[in-house]
Amino acid sequence: MDLGLKDKVAIVGGASQGIGFAVAVALAREGAKLVIWARRNPALAAAADRLVKEHQADVVAVLGDVRRAEDHEKVVAAALARYGGVDILVNNDGAPPLGHIMEFDDAAWEKALRQNLMSVVRLSRLCVPSMKARSWGRIVNITAISVKAPIAGFGLSVASWAALIGFSKTLSRELGPDGITVNTICPGRIDTDLLKRSLKAQAEVERRALEEVREEATGRIPLRRLGRPEEIGAVVAFLVSEQASYVTGTTLQVDGGSLESLM
Ligand SMILES: NC(=O)c1ccc[n+]([C@@H]2O[C@H](COP(=O)([O-])OP(=O)(O)OC[C@H]3O[C@@H](n4cnc5c(N)ncnc54)[C@H](OP(=O)(O)O)[C@@H]3O)[C@@H](O)[C@H]2O)c1
Repeated sequence: MDLGLKDKVAIVGGASQGIGFAVAVALAREGAKLVIWARRNPALAAAADRLVKEHQADVVAVLGDVRRAEDHEKVVAAALARYGGVDILVNNDGAPPLGHIMEFDDAAWEKALRQNLMSVVRLSRLCVPSMKARSWGRIVNITAISVKAPIAGFGLSVASWAALIGFSKTLSRELGPDGITVNTICPGRIDTDLLKRSLKAQAEVERRALEEVREEATGRIPLRRLGRPEEIGAVVAFLVSEQASYVTGTTLQVDGGSLESLM
């Protein structure tokens, strides 16, 4: 199936590894032009290099922190300078710290909201004029399944992403007439560095073997395995495609069936 993404311009966050990199690969394979960003080199430069060498991508790499407004401007300016516009915005990065929700101070809350909510508000504000000019656009946010089924200890993410879903649903209604769709993906457990770090931390806290913690986590997933980053990449590629033109305002879990509820 031709997804209709040839020469579309996509900004992909957190693309030096994990889910973001898999999204960049999926879009590069469809012929999209890419602006990838994350905070650190050499990982980001290495990711760009792989996209060029392995997938013949046209790609610009920009260093930036999702919590800094000036970096949002830098990323979008790079897309406008190199490609003359933006068609697709994929909001993805790291995650706020874990911990008991009552124990975070105002500074931690502000940081989490800057990361998970305000970054998307600002990047949308910067990209939407270009999408409107083309009467076509796609915005996809990566959150987590904990937004649909909150987990103790994940409160900063859950609360800030719940606000993001409110923003995104509203935005989808306001931008529908312009041919711009807005959707959110909630991954379950995906085999990335972040998951490895979190299973290792859990094993240390509970003084259990890492393998045991990993098997327990996998055993609760109906498909009995962790997700692969490219399985999120594939869903993003579909949501930003021409074929998904009637899908907007959704919050879709991609979790191997983990969610224990109807919605
Ligand atoms: N893996 C899972 O099981 C899972 C499940 C549910 C949801 N998620 C969510 O999916 C997203 C991606 O997760 P992942 O597993 O792919 O993580 P990952 O492997 O740790 O990759 C995170 C990427 O985001 C970048 N990043 C981190 N903080 C950033 C910041 N402040 N500004 C800009 N870029 C930043 C990282 O590069 P730098 O560090 O160089 O900036 C890296 O490229 C996260 O929001 C995570 O919470 C993951």
